[in-house]
Amino acid sequence: MASLTVLGKVLLATLLAAAAAAVQLPPLPQALQQTPPPAAEQFLDLWHRSMVEQQRINFTMDNQEAPKTIISPSNHVVTNFAPQDVPSPLYSLQGRFVELKTKLVRDYLVADLVEPEDKNLLNPDGFAVRNLNNKTIVFEKNATGTVTINDFPVVNMISVEDAQIYVIDGALFDHMEQVAEGSRALFDEHSAFDAPMPQDERRFGPKNSTENI
Ligand SMILES: *[C@@H]1O[C@H](CO)[C@@H](O)[C@H](O)[C@H]1NC(C)=O
Ligand SMILES: *[C@@H]1O[C@H](CO)[C@@H](O)[C@H](O)[C@H]1NC(C)=O
Ligand SMILES: *[C@@H]1O[C@H](CO)[C@@H](O)[C@H](O)[C@H]1NC(C)=O
Ligand SMILES: *[C@@H]1O[C@H](CO)[C@@H](O)[C@H](O)[C@H]1NC(C)=O
Repeated sequence: MASLTVLGKVLLATLLAAAAAAVQLPPLPQALQQTPPPAAEQFLDLWHRSMVEQQRINFTMDNQEAPKTIISPSNHVVTNFAPQDVPSPLYSLQGRFVELKTKLVRDYLVADLVEPEDKNLLNPDGFAVRNLNNKTIVFEKNATGTVTINDFPVVNMISVEDAQIYVIDGALFDHMEQVAEGSRALFDEHSAFDAPMPQDERRFGPKNSTENI
């Protein structure tokens, strides 16, 4: 059994290494690790867990800058990414799901600081920036001061040291579909083998939102 465990570890490291080589996560700013703002804690927890997975394969993030602008789906959006009664790919350590999670988190991160007071947000077409996956993110502010990001209203803005967090009540791009598809794939795998779910793919209940990470 001991050799199986070792083999398992080697396979896991290989899967993780393959995923991390393709896409990498930047470090979560120190201040946000220590005191995650409650309004964004589920997303920051997802980022933090993904970072820890990368560190397990000794991937060093020293050469990467922490992003200055963070778009966080609200807590209930993150906890509802996958239906409650099926395994969530966001808790799976399979290489393809580690990669899905890494890409998903990177979609919410922008290298440069976008400040809510920036006059560019008032442009008729808003202010377009690129996220870490080089996809377009459009910030807009209307005459009464409501900020939207890719048309999702911003429900909370938190400034922490040199980073700015924008909480939106939704998921960007096609993330809901991607996670749902991953859930179905995991569910089918488990059903096919009629085996108990591996520890790492168990669906953990949402964290108590009044509790810190
Ligand atoms: C992890 O990476 C560092 C820096 O590249 C290296 O010095 C260290 O030996 C590595 N540790 C392991 C266990 O591979
Ligand atoms: C980002 O996308 C734009 C538009 O598709 C492209 O012109 C640019 O080269 C891309 N940048 C990188 C770093 O891939
Ligand atoms: C700005 O957006 C908010 C939220 O969608 C809306 O309630 C408000 O009426 C808008 N203001 C203007 C001037 O369009
Ligand atoms: C969450 O934690 C708080 C404080 O520890 C507690 O009062 C509350 O009952 C908990 N809620 C749930 C749903 O567990």
